[in-house]
Amino acid sequence: MSNNIVVMDAGWGDAGKGRVIDLLGKHYDITVRFHGGANAGHTLVVDGEKTVFHLMPSGVLWNHMKNVVGPGVVVDPEVLSNEIQFCVKKNLITEFSDNLVISPLCQLVLPHHKELDGSKKEGDNWLGSTKQGIGPTYAGKANRTGLRIADLVSNTPAKFIEKLKQSGVDTLPQEGVVAIWKGMLKPYVKDVTNYLLAEIECGKKILFEGAQGFGLDIDFGTYPYVTSSNCVPAYAAVGAGIPHKFLGDTLAITKAYSTRVGTGPFPTKMSKEEDDFLRNKAGEFGATTGRPRMCGWLDLVQLRRAKEVTGFTRLALTKLDILEDFDVVKLCIAYVREDGSQLLTTPDSAEEYEKIKPLYVTFEKFGKVPNNLKSVDELSSSAQSFVRFIEGYLSASIDIICTGPERGQEIKRNKFWE
Ligand code: IMP
Repeated sequence: MSNNIVVMDAGWGDAGKGRVIDLLGKHYDITVRFHGGANAGHTLVVDGEKTVFHLMPSGVLWNHMKNVVGPGVVVDPEVLSNEIQFCVKKNLITEFSDNLVISPLCQLVLPHHKELDGSKKEGDNWLGSTKQGIGPTYAGKANRTGLRIADLVSNTPAKFIEKLKQSGVDTLPQEGVVAIWKGMLKPYVKDVTNYLLAEIECGKKILFEGAQGFGLDIDFGTYPYVTSSNCVPAYAAVGAGIPHKFLGDTLAITKAYSTRVGTGPFPTKMSKEEDDFLRNKAGEFGATTGRPRMCGWLDLVQLRRAKEVTGFTRLALTKLDILEDFDVVKLCIAYVREDGSQLLTTPDSAEEYEKIKPLYVTFEKFGKVPNNLKSVDELSSSAQSFVRFIEGYLSASIDIICTGPERGQEIKRNKFWE
């Protein structure tokens, strides 16, 4: 088995991947983004300054780490140029080293994609995208009308714009803007397959950084309320352009509760009072859009489906401390249909979701979850039962439990990363 790891959010995104990658980063050499685009947002603190990166892989904060944007990512050249500029200014990357590698095969997210995505109005039939042009860009890829980074860096700006015009686009970027994108991206563009294979040959350890989450996967998520890419770990091989035998294990990340931003099925949604309390306590607002996230109880039916499809055996459980003040804590263990029968897997359509209700097991108040614990045995008996119930239900081990927002405020078990 390879030493590499794929880190995947097991829910609808925002489970705290940045936090977990921060913990693992020391032990890996390369971070690879392999799907999605600037719809993702991870908040990092640089020089005491809070920054949200959308395309830059999270490893950029470590000097020892190389960062790769794989061919499965859709790249908004404006966003990536700004992030490169920021990182160069902060000495996180330099133009002359290979600590950032961008695939020439990445599809470009261009102004007309964002215009189309942004023109959709809030309404019942709209899924509430992040308006970053993700759907239209992946659609263009499937239609074979999209342009890629190779087109940007190997043509003059005028020729690039001409190519766009020929594909029927009328919202065109200005030549000067295209020249800036080209200048910023070109130094880092190289064949990602050869780069990664050479690094693997030298024994380097890779962390594949999933974006969004299993519930938003275009095939296995709550379709059509999903994103436009595959978020499952298997896609890391495609989106990084390397043989799947190099992927290694999957670490699934989940909060101790659920959240969802945008619209779509969310069976375990909390009561309004609980939802407001949790959102404010945990700051559950979208990193990319600032939208309030819907809050709900942890849904083990969804998680088990994620496990069936992805085969994860390890979990990181984040934000356990957030539940400490609830008088009762719940876990959803099945769905109940209108006729009273139970459903133990996820429904196949959004309409089916409307016909089911969650069945919960309940746990007594956790009480204070101190942030300096070293072992699960130090948690209150109710919080211990909660953790062990999840492990038993999913037959997976919870290797990391986050009990506070800061580095070091976590219980580490089975330290597979060392
Ligand atoms: P899109 O990916 O911008 O097309 O949005 C499709 C759906 O996925 C919307 O419900 C978004 O709110 C959701 N989504 C996309 N990216 C993220 C993310 O990084 N975290 C959480 N939700 C996301």
